[in-house]
Amino acid sequence: MAKKKNWPPDLVLATGDLSQDESKESYRSFLKTFSAFKLPVFCLPGNHDVPERMTDVLSTEFVQTTRQIILDGWQILLLDSTVPGQHGGNLKKSELAFLNECLYENENLHTLVCLHHNVIPTNTSWLDTMTLKNSREFFQVIDRFSNVKGILTGHIHQEFSALHRNVPIWGTPSTCIQFLSGSSKFSLDPLHPGFRWLNLKADGSIETGIKRVDKFDFTADLSSKGY
Ligand SMILES: [Fe+2]
Repeated sequence: MAKKKNWPPDLVLATGDLSQDESKESYRSFLKTFSAFKLPVFCLPGNHDVPERMTDVLSTEFVQTTRQIILDGWQILLLDSTVPGQHGGNLKKSELAFLNECLYENENLHTLVCLHHNVIPTNTSWLDTMTLKNSREFFQVIDRFSNVKGILTGHIHQEFSALHRNVPIWGTPSTCIQFLSGSSKFSLDPLHPGFRWLNLKADGSIETGIKRVDKFDFTADLSSKGY
């Protein structure tokens, strides 16, 4: 579906939970699918991933876990917010230091910051128990710099947008099942899988939107995932 229009993109960002069972085989399957695009694909880990195992498999010519991408006046930073054994997220001191260093060293570059966990609540209370735990420290770093132009997250399986001061925050639909926005307990939304496209412009602004697949067998997908 993505290939029907505006193809090829400069790169693809995969914002975590690339596996469900944490197996090497699942990463090999991801690699097989995404290598076929013959495009740069950059991956960061989510709570259903094992970062080291993911990097072991996803370190190839096209599919990588590189943490800083520099491209046409922009840098894209990929942070690891995973905590072993937990669904919620937290940025280690080393991740916050990496973020601070990249922003400081590249103040002339517009910056898109990417991580798996949502950094503010989404009004979906069961999901809001597993946000980024230390978002205060995260925003303390963000607020020191004027070159952060957007924050992009995965995890919440739904479209989301908000503003932190003047910095946009975007959540992204899942390429699998969708979670129902505003629900108090685990609930699925019959919306089709989708992705977020982004156009990083030379002036530091970002155009973005959502695309969803036209056809999706919701029932078949749920049963295959064990729900
Ligand atoms: Fe997640």
